Amino acid sequence: MRQLNIGICGLGTVGSGVLSVLQNNADIIREKSSCLIHVTHVATRNTNHGCNVENIQFSNDIFEVARDSDIDLVVELIGGTSSALELVMLAISNGKHVVTANKALIAEHGTSILQAAYEANVIVAFEASVAGGIPILKSIREGLVANKINWLAGIINGTTNFILSEMSSKGRSFESVLEEAQKRGYAEADPSFDIEGIDASQKLSILTSMSFGMTLPLDHLFTEGITKIPLKDVYFAKELGFTLKHIGICRDHGEQIEARVHPALIPDSSILSSVNGVSNAVMINGDAVDTTLYYGPGAGSTPTASSVIADIVEVAKSDKNAYSSLGFPVEKLCQRKMLDIDLVECGFYVRFTVVNETGVLSKITKIMADSALSIESIIQRDVEDDSNRVDIVLLSSKTTQSNLSPVLRKITELDSVSDEFVILRVEYLDN
Ligand code: HSE
Repeated sequence: MRQLNIGICGLGTVGSGVLSVLQNNADIIREKSSCLIHVTHVATRNTNHGCNVENIQFSNDIFEVARDSDIDLVVELIGGTSSALELVMLAISNGKHVVTANKALIAEHGTSILQAAYEANVIVAFEASVAGGIPILKSIREGLVANKINWLAGIINGTTNFILSEMSSKGRSFESVLEEAQKRGYAEADPSFDIEGIDASQKLSILTSMSFGMTLPLDHLFTEGITKIPLKDVYFAKELGFTLKHIGICRDHGEQIEARVHPALIPDSSILSSVNGVSNAVMINGDAVDTTLYYGPGAGSTPTASSVIADIVEVAKSDKNAYSSLGFPVEKLCQRKMLDIDLVECGFYVRFTVVNETGVLSKITKIMADSALSIESIIQRDVEDDSNRVDIVLLSSKTTQSNLSPVLRKITELDSVSDEFVILRVEYLDN
């Protein structure tokens, strides 16, 4: 039976989940994998971890684990990118495998970490960095190995999905749902990473790299969060037959790669529209298989632990010379040209606030028609105050931001239309 001594750095939400699942499910893991996983060392500065660390060497200094000559594999669960990078590089240079859940680390430094791992002949695995408990990286790397991936689209941040689901179903305020997500351990240590789209952008960077065999494109992704979405737009979207979701999309256009993270209206007929709460879901279209869907918990202690442990077992069983975490050999990863967000085609939802006077709607629709932009749907509703204003919501057919922007400028130049408007993308996910 193969044996692996592991050291765990960090006993926060994920680290304590990893330790408890390894302890509680030790028999089933051993039976299914034919591997013995021994936790021989843990390191944390957290004195309130509540874990059973009996018979395990305990350190306050994480680097002790990377220097421990009895350890085969270091599990990095401290988060952040500075000490974590140092720890991972030290572990690699000491000939240890690494398993991490740290998407920021991989998205920012993955290419150099994997290069160092390749040279040291060790494995760095990071299944838990994307979509929590869903084995999405393994699916792309192994289950879809026969395919050229055409596109991928998904809900990849549990916190924003939880917030938008609660706002939509219960009319709760953004702030109160965010506070609950933090209490439940879904949100990042700095929750602005979730609500500003940074967490999703780090995950999409990893997914894009794996899907298209390219270097990690983090700095080139268009990223927008959910902080600027008024509750009324969640409701207007509903009225139009759409659900507002925070999504990540990447697509291979041959010459260029499209990759973006932002809120979008999804038709209620799409499976992604019914993915609620902290769940994540990723649709992948491959040239052989067509469209596939992967669904499950995107955050939380034991779901994320499930993915971390899958990596540990995989390392225990792997032929390390043939293993490549990103699916493509690291030396074959290349840079690809990214498609400008202004040239990406999708539908658009636009809400103007206008003075309630005769003819304003026809002036708006005329400007759209003169620019050959067709309107799919339209709603007009009184603004709920004494200002004699109305909200006008338009859904455009598919176009690009570069076509739409001059048209919106002309509309807001009308006297009765206020300068500020809400604009959101509409994704049909139909090809
Ligand atoms: N903060 C992340 C989320 C945790 O909400 O999805 C899992 O990466």
